[in-house]
Amino acid sequence: MNIETARRMRGAVPSAVREILKVAERPDVLSFAGGLPAPELFPALELSEAYASVLRDSPAAALQYGITEGFLPLREWIASRLRAQGIPATAESVMVVSGSQQGIDLVARVLLDPGDTVLVENPSYVAALQAFAAYEARVVGLPGDDDGLRTELLEEAVRAHRPALIYLVPEFQNPRGTTLAQDRRRELAAVAARHGVPVLEDDPYGALRFRGAPSTPIAALADGLTFYLGTFSKTLAPGLRLGWIHGPKALMRTLTIAKQACDLQTATLSQHALAKLLETFDYEAHLGRIRAEYRTRREAMLRALEHSMPAGTRWSRPDGGLFLWLELPPGVRDDEVFRAALAHSVAVVPGSGFFVGPPEHGYLRLNFSNQSASNIALGIARLGQTLHTLGAAQAAGPRVDGIEAGAGAAGTGRALHGGGVSFLSTTTFQR
Ligand SMILES: Cc1ncc(COP(=O)(O)O)c(C=O)c1O
Repeated sequence: MNIETARRMRGAVPSAVREILKVAERPDVLSFAGGLPAPELFPALELSEAYASVLRDSPAAALQYGITEGFLPLREWIASRLRAQGIPATAESVMVVSGSQQGIDLVARVLLDPGDTVLVENPSYVAALQAFAAYEARVVGLPGDDDGLRTELLEEAVRAHRPALIYLVPEFQNPRGTTLAQDRRRELAAVAARHGVPVLEDDPYGALRFRGAPSTPIAALADGLTFYLGTFSKTLAPGLRLGWIHGPKALMRTLTIAKQACDLQTATLSQHALAKLLETFDYEAHLGRIRAEYRTRREAMLRALEHSMPAGTRWSRPDGGLFLWLELPPGVRDDEVFRAALAHSVAVVPGSGFFVGPPEHGYLRLNFSNQSASNIALGIARLGQTLHTLGAAQAAGPRVDGIEAGAGAAGTGRALHGGGVSFLSTTTFQR
């Protein structure tokens, strides 16, 4: 007997990144694929003590149902950190969620009707696109460059598409690693305010800055319109599944009702254990260790790329976060690189999966946080060899590995411009 799914799930496709992660789990594979933090940096001992402490001293509270908004001491801690970033948060404006991914889903659930438009930077974080698709939204991609979303195009796009939401990852964007420039943040906030368009500011990586001055969150510039998402996934451990939404106070109740329908509340035990940990744990010192390690790994990757990549390959130089974005030499396709690299036990993410609308096949996303500096050198050397081989095969004949050589690299103006590395994406895409 056939069970028919709801209309909104009919076009649903699995995230290419998550599918690739399954392959990358092979023990022989050096993976630059996932957005995985370094497990050596998880504060496992401190967390185990915090869990033991709440289970020993307050089991009735730590194991009981809790309120949907989240454990108050944790919300107070989060609100005070947000205030330090210039966001006028209070415990009442903060809700604890089961990872910032749930925050994306809840904001979409509360704001989007079928057919509504969401404006995003193109390329964009895939699981956010999946969430918008699940609410039958139309997603319109706007290009970015090395300073993030090209906000000079925003007002015209807002006029043309009347979006119900603007979604962006302004700090060390996934997948390109770019940061939205300060003047563009102001421009974005001004356009949002002029047209009354809510903004979903997804900031899982902001705490992982290892170069340059901190940015002003959009939530500090357009507080009444911005939903700000943060997470402990990249700073403590993703397995905790703890993140937060700070939003306009008038909307927090609706978000709470939406979360009730979703999962009632975020796991009480995780919230109590984390609140206990934060009573004594030096979170700032911990962030300092992570930033130092990721800076080292990023440097290792940049050095290895300079050493190993063939002419015509270019890459971004992120100031934080987990990823860099690599432009392949002209005519080399991301999917053929993926397959050939895997044959050499290296996993990368083809960039095409991140695009809204027609995929561009000239890019890879590389993660630098999850491998040691020596593994990075080894893996990037193998990737370089792969690209040299593909380039040579392509020069020798019209077909490579069953794929029409030169058929990729679709799109115009997709170049990362050399040296200082800037990149221009293409025209507005729709989906
Ligand atoms: C841009 C972005 N947003 C949200 C998330 C979800 O993070 P979590 O649900 O673990 O907080 C991720 C995870 O990689 C991400 O890259």
